Amino acid sequence: MPKVLIIGAGGVGAVVAHKCAQVPEVFSEITLASRTQSKCEAIARQLPVKVRTAQVDADNVPQTVALLRDLKPDLVINVALPYQDLHIMDACLEAGVNYLDTANYEPPDVARFEYRWQWDYQERFAKAGLMALLGSGFDPGVTSVFCTHILKHHLDTATEIDIIDCNAGSHGQPFATNFNPEINIREVSAKGRYYQDGQWIETEPLTHKQPFVMPEDLGSLNVYLMYHEELESLARHIPGLKRARFWMSFSDNYLKHLEVLKNVGMTRIDPVTFNGQQIVPLQFLKALLPDPASLGPLTRGKTCIGCQVRGMKDGRPKTVFVYNICDHEACYREVCSQAISYTTGVPAMIGAKLMLTGAWSGKGVFNMEQFDPDPFMAALNAHGLPWKVIENTVFTA
Ligand SMILES: NC(=O)c1ccc[n+]([C@@H]2O[C@H](COP(=O)([O-])OP(=O)(O)OC[C@H]3O[C@@H](n4cnc5c(N)ncnc54)[C@H](OP(=O)(O)O)[C@@H]3O)[C@@H](O)[C@H]2O)c1
Repeated sequence: MPKVLIIGAGGVGAVVAHKCAQVPEVFSEITLASRTQSKCEAIARQLPVKVRTAQVDADNVPQTVALLRDLKPDLVINVALPYQDLHIMDACLEAGVNYLDTANYEPPDVARFEYRWQWDYQERFAKAGLMALLGSGFDPGVTSVFCTHILKHHLDTATEIDIIDCNAGSHGQPFATNFNPEINIREVSAKGRYYQDGQWIETEPLTHKQPFVMPEDLGSLNVYLMYHEELESLARHIPGLKRARFWMSFSDNYLKHLEVLKNVGMTRIDPVTFNGQQIVPLQFLKALLPDPASLGPLTRGKTCIGCQVRGMKDGRPKTVFVYNICDHEACYREVCSQAISYTTGVPAMIGAKLMLTGAWSGKGVFNMEQFDPDPFMAALNAHGLPWKVIENTVFTA
């Protein structure tokens, strides 16, 4: 019976542990390991089944290999931070274990988001007969599966993709991020970038915006063009794609705080000397901001994340929007987390389930859009992230 090791006991790790525990027929043995073992133990106490916990510094490859050799899991679900991706992939190769994550590798000293570093592991994973599934969260993750679902069932060709990530919820805090503050602020402060006609077009951070009217009377929000990693893999794997963009909603209040923090240097990721000690301002800011895991009981409202794909069907232009709406309070009632962690943790569990049951299989390094979307889409409905389709309504300009 399959054994899984979850690395990372933050907001997302907690949801992955809860959701794996709900599927004992697939995840018969679960270990939750992280840098701070007490966080694993606190999560383990919330679960209906017994899980093991362990301490590991995933940046220390020999330490991770020793843990893998001791536990002999079939799969590592990496929900630590993107900085750990390559170290955990190295450990998996050494110990002969399959790998899954939800965010692409980022070097700590520069906010660059690209798959190159992980795609470079293709040959090593293939040779070892192992599988690595990259980006099995919501975005990246479900967004790629939504696109391949639309291509498989609603269109003959896809020419334009717009991914829209809206959070219409509120945590009532003056300023907080819904997932790891350091990773979130690095992502949001980076230059925007989108794919058009085989080229990447760069924009200044958060300079392109448009209103987005959410379905199901959720209201309207401003969404801002950003770079997001699935654009790179979609542009590579979807033939004939002419344009791919990613939009995310931010409240005026969030943007006002971010601008001030940036202007005073608090979002810098290079070390500065303070009282004779080297500190990275963004890491210090993270220490001051609310822990995203603590936002669970405070957050109200809903998220709406979807993909609008334009293309051709039977010789005619057609637009299809597939989306999920997720309620922060319902997530908290189910797994003690807000919807951002929930919408990431559920697809991580589903990706793991498909790997462990053989529904998605292969040797090498894969992105989500390389597999049949059907079992994943069915699992989303079964495990708490139901989706809907709207045809021929245009949501973005
Ligand atoms: N695809 C998506 O839709 C999506 C959306 C949101 C987030 N994400 C990704 O999900 C991941 C987790 O996010 P989160 O919000 O849960 O972050 P978080 O709350 O900050 O949790 C990160 C966890 O990783 C642990 N960790 C950090 N460095 C470690 C190391 N060297 N060795 C072992 N454990 C280590 C942390 O341990 P400590 O407690 O000791 O710090 C913490 O438990 C991130 O990679 C994020 O980018 C993906």
